[in-house]
Amino acid sequence: MDKQLFEEVDKYISRLLANEDQVLKDVITSLDQAGLPQFSVSPSQGKLLQVFAAMCGAKNILELGTLGGYSTIWLARTLPDAGKLITIEFDDRCADVAEKNLAAANLQSKVSVRRGKALDVLPLLQNENAGPFDLIFIDADKPPYTEYFQWALKLSRPGSIIICDNVIREGMVLEENHPDEKVRGVQRFNNFLSACTEVNATILPTVGMKEFDGMAICVKI
Ligand code: SAH
Ligand code: DHB
Ligand code: MG
Repeated sequence: MDKQLFEEVDKYISRLLANEDQVLKDVITSLDQAGLPQFSVSPSQGKLLQVFAAMCGAKNILELGTLGGYSTIWLARTLPDAGKLITIEFDDRCADVAEKNLAAANLQSKVSVRRGKALDVLPLLQNENAGPFDLIFIDADKPPYTEYFQWALKLSRPGSIIICDNVIREGMVLEENHPDEKVRGVQRFNNFLSACTEVNATILPTVGMKEFDGMAICVKI
């Protein structure tokens, strides 16, 4: 059992069930071309997000952290005709690249990229009555994950699904007093989640072509 086997199995799953079309492949290329990091979810993780959206019949989706729009496209592709997705991104370079990719995916009528820091944009969404969202995917910077999750609770309804990426960080969450602020951010979030009585939740460890990590999967009670 090693990383190579997990990678091969992940590719096997992707070949069978999470094939990327040219639009999704081009998103990955667009990140390299723009000098942006390859932090997108993997194909099988994108498909997992899409399956969750389909499971709950999501019509109104919120994402924190757009990057090039890779997870956005997986999620938005299961929306019904009148469905909407809002994705928040504070880096204009990412938002520019994402808007091009979303146009190439023909999703510009369903998806809007909201520019700004998530903690600034979330109150605006509340004032606009943009919620409640059926599914919320939290994948922006890690230190404020707990605050993002508290906003997700406000902007959702009983039955809403909240998914948070990168909450295991190669197992580094096991180490107390870890120096990395990303690790500390998700540790603080995981502890908050453990005590949160508003959701039914677990963490799904993820192995495969990306670093060993995990996604918190939550349903609002
Ligand atoms: N969800 C994407 C990957 C997101 S990577 C995918 O899987 O395809 C994380 C993104 O969050 C980066 O693009 C980064 O610029 C953005 N980000 C970081 N801090 C942020 C903040 N405070 N508010 C909004 N976006 C932020
Ligand atoms: C990082 C962020 C992500 O959202 C991810 O999926 C992987 C890594 C990071 O900031 O290191
Ligand atoms: Mg992530």
